[in-house]
Amino acid sequence: MHIAIINGPNLNLLGTREPAIYGDKSFDTYLNELRLKFSDVEISYYHSNIEGELINHMHNCIGKVNGIVLNAGAYTHTSIAIADAVAAVGIPVIEVHISNVLAREDYRKTSFIAAKCKGSISGLGMDGYSLAVQYLTGNTR
Ligand code: DQA
Repeated sequence: MHIAIINGPNLNLLGTREPAIYGDKSFDTYLNELRLKFSDVEISYYHSNIEGELINHMHNCIGKVNGIVLNAGAYTHTSIAIADAVAAVGIPVIEVHISNVLAREDYRKTSFIAAKCKGSISGLGMDGYSLAVQYLTGNTR
């Protein structure tokens, strides 16, 4: 079982970026915890601040992964191209947001990608990634 986690713009700064909203843990630290928790799952990780690179990576996942956990960051609210990629790859994708996007600015309340995803998790902090992996793997931890 192979799950790909894909993070979009500014999520490389987790740990120091607006900690009141996103917490003070780096994604590398969280990823280590996640891999220990799901030790029987191959969890790959990709980050890019660049829209086309995120799309290229999703294309590279075809035939290689069983599910994708996607936090597209602000591209969530702007990118029809990423929404099209979600629809195109034929892999179940769970949209994750660390913050509760529906409780924030109005421009964060629209997700172009949500309707193309299997489901969305928002506002549960980094636990959202774990819950998404749990769903995609049928794992009950
Ligand atoms: C985010 C929410 C987005 O609105 C924002 O642009 C991000 C992070 C989240 O994880 O809460 O970069 O996707």
